[in-house]
Amino acid sequence: MRAERATSTGTRPLRSGRLKGKVAIVTGAGSRGPGLGNGKAAAILFAREGAQVLCVDRVIERAEETCAMILSEDGEASPLQADVSRSSDCERMISAVSERYGRLDILHNNVGIESRKGLLETSEEEWDQVLAVDLKSMFLAAQAAIPRLVEAGGGSIINVSSVAALRAHGRTAYAAAKAGVIGLTISLAGQLAKDRIRVNCIAPGFVYTPMVAEGMSAELRERRRLAAPIQDEGTAWDVAWAAVYLASDESRWVTGQVLAVDGGLTITSR
Ligand SMILES: NC(=O)c1ccc[n+]([C@@H]2O[C@H](COP(=O)([O-])OP(=O)(O)OC[C@H]3O[C@@H](n4cnc5c(N)ncnc54)[C@H](O)[C@@H]3O)[C@@H](O)[C@H]2O)c1
Repeated sequence: MRAERATSTGTRPLRSGRLKGKVAIVTGAGSRGPGLGNGKAAAILFAREGAQVLCVDRVIERAEETCAMILSEDGEASPLQADVSRSSDCERMISAVSERYGRLDILHNNVGIESRKGLLETSEEEWDQVLAVDLKSMFLAAQAAIPRLVEAGGGSIINVSSVAALRAHGRTAYAAAKAGVIGLTISLAGQLAKDRIRVNCIAPGFVYTPMVAEGMSAELRERRRLAAPIQDEGTAWDVAWAAVYLASDESRWVTGQVLAVDGGLTITSR
């Protein structure tokens, strides 16, 4: 197999086998629109690095699209329809990974929906929905995955938060859920270290993905690009490379951490 150099865009297959022999679940492995979401990019890079990947999405066609991309590169992946905000679906997801691949090493809790509303505009229904998908799903998926991770002799759980949890961006329910993801990460890291299960968190900055592209003006896109000290637009590949590191044994001594992948946004004083 030809070894190729990593690029920031991730467009060239890299096959250095950093995840060889591992089995991963990626939740929200599809993208809600044309282009590349964080889950889709992570699933592709995990497979390029040698993992077998269960691509989970509420919308099966989205998971299937990601799998098709992986299979076209000779990677190993299969799709599963599941709504990870429901405990029964999380249990089914873990049964599926055991049946199809016989083990579990990596749980990438990527799923998330956005709410851009401020305090007074956020309804109770929207609050409940965002908290269920963005936070409760990670608790339920981790709970269901633990027996399989313990069986594997340890593993890695990666939870996707957001810089919205760390900065005042005015998105009430989303910020609260994403801050909860950080608390959950630290709590689980402390509880699970004895089982060699590491739990870390990625806080992406202003990444241009289908989730945020919907209805975004060219002017706002440019303002987002210029907001961080590194004035390149962040992509799903940037977030996915962080996930590869946290999923691999290279991070074997790293747990309970929040890795901001944000072009330096969170170090600014604005
Ligand atoms: N794009 C950004 O700027 C940005 C910034 C910070 C954090 N994030 C986070 O990155 C993660 C992925 O975002 P994205 O931009 O790739 O989103 P996306 O909407 O493109 O993809 C998310 C996928 O999750 C699926 N999904 C939604 N609810 C689900 C559920 N209950 N069960 C299973 N699947 C479900 C959707 O069908 C979709 O395919 C989210 O957690 C998001 O909050 C994104």
